[in-house]
Amino acid sequence: MSVRLPRKQLEIILSQLKGFPDPNASKEQYEISDTVAATMLFSAASAGDIENRRVYDLGCGPGRLAIGAALLGAEHVVGVDIDSKVLNVAEQNAVQLGVRERIEFVSQDIETITARVDTVLMNAPFGVQRDHADRPFLRKALEIGDVVYSLHKASEGGRKFIARYVSEFGGRISFIQEMMMALPATMHFHEKKRHKIKVDFYRIEKQEETK
Ligand SMILES: C[S@@+](CC[C@H](N)C(=O)[O-])C[C@H]1O[C@@H](n2cnc3c(N)ncnc32)[C@H](O)[C@@H]1O
Repeated sequence: MSVRLPRKQLEIILSQLKGFPDPNASKEQYEISDTVAATMLFSAASAGDIENRRVYDLGCGPGRLAIGAALLGAEHVVGVDIDSKVLNVAEQNAVQLGVRERIEFVSQDIETITARVDTVLMNAPFGVQRDHADRPFLRKALEIGDVVYSLHKASEGGRKFIARYVSEFGGRISFIQEMMMALPATMHFHEKKRHKIKVDFYRIEKQEETK
């Protein structure tokens, strides 16, 4: 299914979706912003990694990336999260946008996924609350997908580390885009109503010989 949805329109649609019902800091339940989600999705769609592709959203939360991929014409989308409560919200969001039948939401630890897909999208825990929480996500994404779009907290050291780390699992970074992401105050320890953080989104390709 080919969908020509302007980027700005996608951003507006995603901004209307419900968020985490009861955000848990230890699981780093921060929602991706509409702007960053729409930018990632359009970048992936422009590279031919969404339309008619099998797509996984690892740690999908309320489902913005999964739902966006379905709206942009993915053949089949699976959103996985360890928190079944937030998957109920993701399902409601998908119903609201008429893509429920094209997305499977699965309550599962990402470690137990055994699928093979074309594209993985993820805004995984950054590893701020729990050190290295992003690593199992990168490992799993490269195990199951040919191309990975992944969001991380921006830093020079982080870029060097991720380049080295993904190469151990057959991945090569094809580009990094730095963006500012607005985070509303959702946790009890947030003092400002809204703050902005620098994020990097990565496109990582699996090298031919490791596919
Ligand atoms: C930073 S939030 C991002 C949510 C969503 N992708 C978004 O961008 O709005 C990370 C998500 O990963 C989920 N998560 C954390 N550890 C997980 C695991 N081991 N397996 C599956 N999901 C996990 C959390 O419940 C949370 O919803």
